[in-house]
Amino acid sequence: MKDLLDEMKGPLVLVVDDEWLQRVPMREALERYGCRVIDAENGVQAWEMMQYERPDVVISDVVMPGMDGFSLCHTIRQQPELEHLPVIIITCLEDLSSVELAYQSGATDFITKPINWSLLGHRVRYILRSARTAQAYAESQLELLHSRLEIIRRLGQAAEYRDPETGNHIMRMSRYSLLLGRAAGLSSSDQDLLLHASPMHDVGKIGIPDSILLKPGRLTEMEFSLMKGHTLLGGRLLTGDSSILLQTSHLIAMTHHERWDGGGYPYGLAGEAIPLVGRICSLTDVFDALTSRRPYKEPWCVEDAVKEIKRTSGTAFDPNLVQIFVDILPQILNVKETFADIEGGA
Ligand SMILES: [Fe+2]
Ligand SMILES: [Fe+2]
Repeated sequence: MKDLLDEMKGPLVLVVDDEWLQRVPMREALERYGCRVIDAENGVQAWEMMQYERPDVVISDVVMPGMDGFSLCHTIRQQPELEHLPVIIITCLEDLSSVELAYQSGATDFITKPINWSLLGHRVRYILRSARTAQAYAESQLELLHSRLEIIRRLGQAAEYRDPETGNHIMRMSRYSLLLGRAAGLSSSDQDLLLHASPMHDVGKIGIPDSILLKPGRLTEMEFSLMKGHTLLGGRLLTGDSSILLQTSHLIAMTHHERWDGGGYPYGLAGEAIPLVGRICSLTDVFDALTSRRPYKEPWCVEDAVKEIKRTSGTAFDPNLVQIFVDILPQILNVKETFADIEGGA
């Protein structure tokens, strides 16, 4: 980030051109508009300068010895921190293929020769303003995404406080879900969604009375039917938002207790009518519950838990996902080990 002093000094422009006769009037024209100018004779020299000096704008000629303007632009765009740096390529008016190549190499804009020196400063300032607006927008979107993730994470934590399934259940289950989703062919953005949305699966337990949630013994039929309502309560809590993250959380909260054979709740959906994210979370949630200690049971060993998952393949669980789960078991067990509950801990 540029400091206030640099802002007051005016934007720093790096001019890259092998012709001295071109660089001099460009420097004068830019300085007349309050820009500070540094220059280089070719792409290699410009790139070396950029290792210790960060310009606000780069203006580069195309044909130069060593590294040409397109390669320089391409090299700049390879650096994530320079993603928004405005790069202006100088082309000839009649050379349309150069304009196309300039955009392909990641240029922000182009100016044509012969250069109108009196308009150059306006053009640079305009491009700089647009780039800053675009960067500010990208940063605000990123901040919005982070705050959404944070709210979701805290909501999940709130549900955990009320749930006897403490420990690292949420950490393991969300990572198992990510691995299973990845192996099932989800895109990387959908895998991300699954990782962040699955911790919400039991958020509806916030609305279940303690007398049921914390009951050490078996639930009566009436109590169990109230307990089942955590799916609908969670769904209601997470409904009505346009963000894809909350929509996915909603789907998972609603469907993580559905069964492949239609015998689950709340709706008794069957087979592929159950959203894939719900089918994934139902499997990973049960696997973690089986292999974890609960107030009312000892943890099952992995072999017995996998045997149970296989036994209920096609009844409780999507048989295709069960097969994939078995195939990636070594990765699942890595997560299980990394996020193991500390025995005797709080
Ligand atoms: Fe649940
Ligand atoms: Fe759970």
